[in-house]
Amino acid sequence: MQGQRVLLRVDFNVPLSDGKIVDDSRIRAAVPTIKALLDGGASVVIMSHLGRPDGRVVDGLRLRPAAERLTQLIRVNVPTTGDALGVGTDDAVRRLRPGELLLLENVRFHAGEERNDPAFAERLASYGDVFVNDAFGAAHRAHASTVGVAAYLPSYVGLLMEQEVEALSNLLEKPARPFAAIVGGGKVSSKVAVLEALIKKVDLLILGGGVANTFLVASGRSVGKSLYESKMVDDARRILKLAQDRGVRVLLPVDGVVAKEVTRGTEFKVVSTDKLPASWHMVDLGPASITAIREALAPIKTILWNGPLGVFEIPSFAVATRELAKVAAEKADAGATVVVGGGDSIAALRQLGVAEKMTHLSTGGGASLEFLEGRDLPGLAVVPTAGSPYETLPIIYVSPVKPGGKAAAKRAPAKPKPIIKPSALDDEDDESDTLA
Ligand code: 3PG
Ligand code: MG
Repeated sequence: MQGQRVLLRVDFNVPLSDGKIVDDSRIRAAVPTIKALLDGGASVVIMSHLGRPDGRVVDGLRLRPAAERLTQLIRVNVPTTGDALGVGTDDAVRRLRPGELLLLENVRFHAGEERNDPAFAERLASYGDVFVNDAFGAAHRAHASTVGVAAYLPSYVGLLMEQEVEALSNLLEKPARPFAAIVGGGKVSSKVAVLEALIKKVDLLILGGGVANTFLVASGRSVGKSLYESKMVDDARRILKLAQDRGVRVLLPVDGVVAKEVTRGTEFKVVSTDKLPASWHMVDLGPASITAIREALAPIKTILWNGPLGVFEIPSFAVATRELAKVAAEKADAGATVVVGGGDSIAALRQLGVAEKMTHLSTGGGASLEFLEGRDLPGLAVVPTAGSPYETLPIIYVSPVKPGGKAAAKRAPAKPKPIIKPSALDDEDDESDTLA
């Protein structure tokens, strides 16, 4: 790394409220790679997106808050540029010395980013001698800064990418059994593919949130005004049938909290899911469901949890999600492998102060779901591999302290590779876990 200029893609797409970072997990998760590069004597030009500015400058989506947070975390000043490109940026990059770093302004302020425009990618690539992709959260996007630049530079993955791939692959390939998946969140449509893949892997599937409502309808219940997707009922039925054929137990809620409105301070009560009232909304799982989940998880040795069980953003309806976070912590304490993905699920663990007990917290929302579906993630696929399956992905260490001793694996200089076009998926809103 000594003396190299490293173009590093991270995912600093963090939730903001009034310009303040609500959850800095993704920034923290990028620190090991950044430190390894700086300690190795590289200068680092960091790229990230934030939000969906659609190719225009949006002041509320500038990366300065992320730079400030990173500065606090690594105790090295992290300057930002006013623009990802331009004379000022060219200059700032040229002046960087070993051990120094710079954060480019939000790459999505340029339309070329999401279009994976080769000219835009080439200009970004001009800032580095090598490219390191550590943006697992954005690895399902084939954009200029995640994929395009790899056509021009020798390309590597970072330590976070390695950790995510390892944790999620272990889950799919060699889980200690019995293995349970708990899937919540709002929409079945964004989870059908992952549910279908998981049914082939797990011994137990627990459903909550809006996802469970659609399955309740598929199994003949009516859910009143609750959030559910009528278009997905057939898919839910098919997944239930698949589970039955394979002998996988599916746990649906037996009771729920129903509310007059999906707002704070509204009237609510607990009812059986066999008699959900027509004009009420199911907003959380009830106490009998929580007990059933706790019991079902008792013998489980591996847990994958993605998505809240209720309308987590309203505290009265976050009870089941918080209870599940407690159970997850107990399971982890007892030696189970617990892997958690999705912003709300991780927020529940943080609120209870048990996040650090988990085996792995994924920084990927859409990316981790697509990985678990077994799909190729473009941001991983651009890094040269011996074969396509992830188990053969050669991890090229950027850390100088990894076993094996070598500071960094040497590779042949990169040949220009075909540009991968942005996938149709880029328009998909896989963002939200929320049920409201
Ligand atoms: C995410 O949070 O899902 C990633 O940062 C990718 O962002 P996107 O969904 O806006 O492409
Ligand atoms: Mg997303």
